[in-house]
Amino acid sequence: MDMDKLVSLCKRRGFVFQSSEIYGGLNGFWDYGPLGVELKRNVKEAWWKDNVTGHDDLAPPVGAPSIFEMVGLDSSIIMHPQVWKCSGHYDLFHDFMVDCRESKKRYRYDQVKGRWVEAKGQTVFIAVYSDSDQPEKEAEQKVLKFFDMRGKQADELKWQGEMTTLPTVQDMSKVLGPDAKTLGTLTPPREFNLMFKTIVGALGSDEDAAFLRPETAQGIFVNFKNVLDSTRVKIPFGIAQVGKSFRNEITPRNFTFRSREFEQMEIEFFCHPNTSPDWYHYWRDRRYKWYTDLGLAGDRLRLRDHTPDELSHYSCGTADIEYAFPFLPAGEYGELEGIAHRGDFDLRSHSEGKLARQGNELVVEAGPDGKPRHKGSGKDLRYFDEQTRERYLPHVIEPSAGADRATLAFLCEAYQEDTVPDENGKPSERLVLKLHPRLAPFKAAVFPLVKKEGMPEIAEKLYRELKARFPVFYDDKGAVGRRYRRQDEAGTPYCLTIDGQTLQDQTVTLRDRDTLKQERVPMKEVGELIATKVR
Ligand code: GAP
Repeated sequence: MDMDKLVSLCKRRGFVFQSSEIYGGLNGFWDYGPLGVELKRNVKEAWWKDNVTGHDDLAPPVGAPSIFEMVGLDSSIIMHPQVWKCSGHYDLFHDFMVDCRESKKRYRYDQVKGRWVEAKGQTVFIAVYSDSDQPEKEAEQKVLKFFDMRGKQADELKWQGEMTTLPTVQDMSKVLGPDAKTLGTLTPPREFNLMFKTIVGALGSDEDAAFLRPETAQGIFVNFKNVLDSTRVKIPFGIAQVGKSFRNEITPRNFTFRSREFEQMEIEFFCHPNTSPDWYHYWRDRRYKWYTDLGLAGDRLRLRDHTPDELSHYSCGTADIEYAFPFLPAGEYGELEGIAHRGDFDLRSHSEGKLARQGNELVVEAGPDGKPRHKGSGKDLRYFDEQTRERYLPHVIEPSAGADRATLAFLCEAYQEDTVPDENGKPSERLVLKLHPRLAPFKAAVFPLVKKEGMPEIAEKLYRELKARFPVFYDDKGAVGRRYRRQDEAGTPYCLTIDGQTLQDQTVTLRDRDTLKQERVPMKEVGELIATKVR
């Protein structure tokens, strides 16, 4: 699938617009249009229903080690700055970047690729920074241009080794930057904290500095005790939250995939340390199934366990659910969701102070004065089990998903071009979004075949009846074939046409977007029929 075509459909049909477009746009920020807002809301609502409101507290779901409870939360975006100091984000949440003095462009250090090559007696590192399928080809074109050589002289280039990343290069003076014409224009890598800083209150001194949250998770940890004290939940239980997060990404790119403002759907699941490995595996498999159930089946979706050296500072086990987005080179996958076993890292940090690893132990990190470098809240966040009389810090399993990335993956998977017969039976090309009915912005569209003979009145009545149950679109403009095409592009799974026969026997034509099958259905049964398909 060609990503440009999807991006253009998203703009043309009102799924996604560039933020502040009339002013030239703002890199890393996106707006969801009338169809996009419905799609993304459906993704978030499917997640919320499947994990929170639809969860059965009384019986264990398939594969779960035991019964458990699930509750929700909506915490603030700006929190006490100490939250980010104890969570590790203040000290550790950064990327390395390099700037190009010539092109004034900035790149993520680890994402610049390149290859060593010798020509005309000189050895240089040719860097590229793109998601091109053929970085070698791109590097070849660049090096020919740099040495002022022609295409047919490509045989004279002596390549040394395969493509590698910039961090493997010791001598930056030999690097030809991705957008540079001269050597050595890239600066040494510099650290860059990804949290957006802001000022709370009118005085505006640095002491009032606060941060826009880079993840929703910490809002859950700092409310752990509030939830315990205000509800009757018992371990094991999960707290779920959906909300905006902000990261000042160095190179936002690939449409909404890497944005500076995005939404997360996170669960912090609290359990006894002895059972935490079982819960980790349960959540890993359950979350993978959620995507396949909603249509991301096939080899574009995969579940990948992290190797020990990939694990975060707090994690004893992590898996990623990844999707082969069409903007990535063949064989590469992008993260949709991470499922992490976080141990007791977060609750301990918020209680005792920021932790650091010492050998195999996590200890409170000391500052130059020997006191905790970042002081915790001092609150006892241990859980007391009334039955066993045990007091302990629970372990946490965290399934952390991105609503924008999930929405984008569902769009990529749904986008199809096919050839179908038009109303005269002639093959015609169509563009269709085969979205799962639960996710589709409109569940059905209602058409009167013609604007006379009482058909609009019947169609309007049916439209209003259905609209009381789910989102429905009414369209009486143009030929029915054209109306089908418009709904296919919007991902509407069912179209209902009121025609001459409706006047006689109160049946309507129900047309299925994917099979193109048309069947006559009694009008009074239509609502229930569609409701069962879109639930
Ligand atoms: N609490 C753990 C956490 O935040 P993460 O892997 O940094 O983990 C979780 O983020 C998910 O949030 C990712 O899998 C991704 O879906 C989404 N996400 C992270 N950064 C993003 C960005 N810049 N743009 C869009 N989505 C992002």
